[in-house]
Amino acid sequence: MNLDGLNAIAKKMVAKGKGILAADESTGTIKKRFDKIGVANTEENRRDYREMMFRTGKAMREHISGVILFDETIRQKAKDGTPLVKLIEDAGCIPGIKVDAGAKPLPFHPGELVTEGLDGLRDRFKDYHKLGARFAKWRAVIDIGAGIPTYNCVQANAHALARYAALAQENDIVPIVEPEVLMDGDHDIARCADVTQWVLKEVFEQLFVADVQLEGMVLKPNMVIAGKKCPKQNSVEEVARATVRILKDCVPAAVPGIAFLSGGQSDEDATAHLSAINAIGNLPWAVTFSYGRALQAAPQAAWAGKAENVAKAQAAFAHRALMNSLAATGQWKASDEKKAA
Ligand code: 13P
Repeated sequence: MNLDGLNAIAKKMVAKGKGILAADESTGTIKKRFDKIGVANTEENRRDYREMMFRTGKAMREHISGVILFDETIRQKAKDGTPLVKLIEDAGCIPGIKVDAGAKPLPFHPGELVTEGLDGLRDRFKDYHKLGARFAKWRAVIDIGAGIPTYNCVQANAHALARYAALAQENDIVPIVEPEVLMDGDHDIARCADVTQWVLKEVFEQLFVADVQLEGMVLKPNMVIAGKKCPKQNSVEEVARATVRILKDCVPAAVPGIAFLSGGQSDEDATAHLSAINAIGNLPWAVTFSYGRALQAAPQAAWAGKAENVAKAQAAFAHRALMNSLAATGQWKASDEKKAA
């Protein structure tokens, strides 16, 4: 393991004003997105859609540091035969790869999931490194509900994250460690804070036990936010303050960067919250975005699978990338949305 090399990659992933494009939807997940815009889930459509984003030159060069890919995409070529990985590298971005095999039901724990994918992972990392990946992602999913999460769920997911992260570093790949506490329920912000704190404490304990070097990783957490079905939703500043309080309590300063998931927040909420978090200032880590839906919902709607909409879709993607880039330095204002749209 080359820790200096890992640290340099991690810092580049969270470079000032840049963030990560999470384009690693599995074939099943991208189908859900395509169904909404009436696009058939074929290999060619998946390629055309992702190629369109990776060819959005200015946005990729100026606002995106890295792209998380799915196994199919890291091996795919653009229409003109250029590997998609090369398009990403030519834009100055780092290719990354999702390596987990998805969240499966946890035995004897109804409603809880554990992420699979550790078997054979060392060899897969070697293969992905040859294909150009310099960072990876593994997502654990923790749901909040009556009596959940349980300790078994938190512990099993944290343990898997740590084993994955150690294997990634052993193979000179920076692990994005993603423990996602879902915002699907009716819980309030205080409950999200408690569960997020518990999960992060457990994750950093397991990373320590597994000898993961914190300087060579990036954390991808949820924000501390009320569940979507909670009648009391909080202000942008309340979400920002609660999130910073929990992260400061749990995330060692040795971690170079935190890149949030958007988790089902609206595009503008995800941007506003990120900006407010950065506006608090004096944070020991770089804090940016690693958004899937909050970067892609707008270009997907604009594209709708039609070649004649490509320019419009690229403009929509560039707009969200710019807004989140501003948010990554705490400079975004609601008025910027209208000005630049
Ligand atoms: P969202 O931003 O849509 O939550 O996706 C980020 C991600 O990579 C989830 O694993």
